[in-house]
Parts: sequence; C-alpha cells; structure tokens
Amino acid sequence: MTTDLPTLGVGLGFRPPFLADLFRNRDGVDFLEITADHYLDVNGEKLRELDLLAEHFPLVPHGLDLSLGSAEGIDPRYLQSLARLVDRLKPPWWSEHIAFTRAGGISIGHLAPLPFSREAVDVVVRNVEVVQREISTPLILENITSPLIVPGSDMEEADFLTEVLDRTGCGLLCDVTNLYTNSVNHGQDLDHVLARWPWDRVVQLHLAGGHWDDGLLIDSHAHPVPSEVWAVLDRAVANAPVRGILLERDENLPPFKELLADLERAREAGRRSGRWN
Ligand SMILES: [Fe+2]
Repeated sequence: MTTDLPTLGVGLGFRPPFLADLFRNRDGVDFLEITADHYLDVNGEKLRELDLLAEHFPLVPHGLDLSLGSAEGIDPRYLQSLARLVDRLKPPWWSEHIAFTRAGGISIGHLAPLPFSREAVDVVVRNVEVVQREISTPLILENITSPLIVPGSDMEEADFLTEVLDRTGCGLLCDVTNLYTNSVNHGQDLDHVLARWPWDRVVQLHLAGGHWDDGLLIDSHAHPVPSEVWAVLDRAVANAPVRGILLERDENLPPFKELLADLERAREAGRRSGRWN
C-alpha cells in the first residue's frame, strides 16, 4: 500500500506567519503539511488560504484530534469533516498520531500517549479500520513522545509500532525528534531502538528541535534541530524508503532563511542516500 507513493522531497509545516516567505522562496520548499484541524468545515478566508496554498504546493493534511487510541471509538462527525478535507485536497497521503486526544467525548487538548500494549494495539487497529472505510487515501501514523513509558506497557515502542503498522497496512510518519526524545526520556539505548525500528514502513519523516525542562526533553518545536537529531535523521534516511522530510517549527520563529538552510540540509541527506536527486 505504501510502496507506490510518490516522492515529495523536503517540506515545512505550514504556519500562517510563513505565508509571504513561502511565496518568495517557493523553490526551496517542495511540499507543505497543513494542520487538518485548522481547515475542517471552513469557508471564507481560511478556505481561500487553503486554495491558495494548494495552487502552489503539494499539501499533506496532518490531523490532530482523531484520537485513534480512544477505546470509545472515533467521532463520526469529525471523521466526516476530515474525509471532506482529504477529498478536496486529494493528497498522496495524510497523517495522524498514535495517541488519544479525547475521553468521554471531550477533547483533552493535547496528544496523550498510549501504553505500549496488545490492548492498545487492538484499539488503534479497530479505529484505523473505521477511518480507512471512510478515507481511502493512504494514512500514515506518527510516533509521539511521552515523558515516561505509560504504565501497562508490556512491549517496546518499536514492536508496538510494528504491530500497529502490520495490522493496519499504514505507513509510518517517523518523527525522528520524537524517537530521539523518547529514547532519552525513557532511558533507552538509542542504537537498540534504531535497530528494532520498523524502517521499511516509513513514508515520511518529521524533524524539529525541542528543549530541556526539569530533566526532561520536550518536543516543543521551538528551537533549532540539535545535532543528535540530525544524526538520527541521517540514519533514518539511510535505512528507510523516505518520500518526504518535513521540518516542524511552531514557536520562537527564526528568520525564514534558517528554516530554508535546514530544508537544504535535509534535502542533501536524502540525496546522499539516493532518496531523490
Ligand atoms: Fe511530529
């Protein structure tokens, strides 16, 4: 299912402050990821913004609030809104997180981690099957961070992801920053994690910079990408059939040329491994 997807190259998570710079530097940005939730059931100005972006860049919708880890199932109205957006954009793939964001029908406002357990795999697989019946465009799933391994976990993260991907047929949106962050916060040996990671399922990578807070590494998307994460990216691109690398920057926005320099570095990493020209 993921082997015939196109190669997009290097991209940026779209944030409205980037708009003017994006159009001035169109050659440096191959695709954009848009936060799906910002464009569900919109009209007027937001719809015009979406259409303008879609005219000039390939767009990949990235969802936040599907809550694939909710045992109560998927909100059908939210899913239908998402399906309409994906249908409008006709992207090569779209993405969501392996997380839960809703409990008792209420949005909790952040991506909460799941235990790495068979029960959690079953819930995610059941929900993804519901989603795949509504949206036939390939869905790729993103690994998230957690400050600690959630109690009830009885598998390693890599094995948990592998099982979810095998049973759903989904590709992996491998966030290399999240991978690195969890290895640090969970006290795991990075080489061990990398050796078990399901690289063959990767479609796209995420890349970002975090910060230290009270002994924990936080994936805040607010700082430059650290050298340790660039090193993981190099190994990911060497190991995985990567079709796109996307830089996420949400806060503390630097001059746009710094983001372009990061994209160029990611592009070069992809070239070195023969992922694109
Ligand atoms: Fe990410």
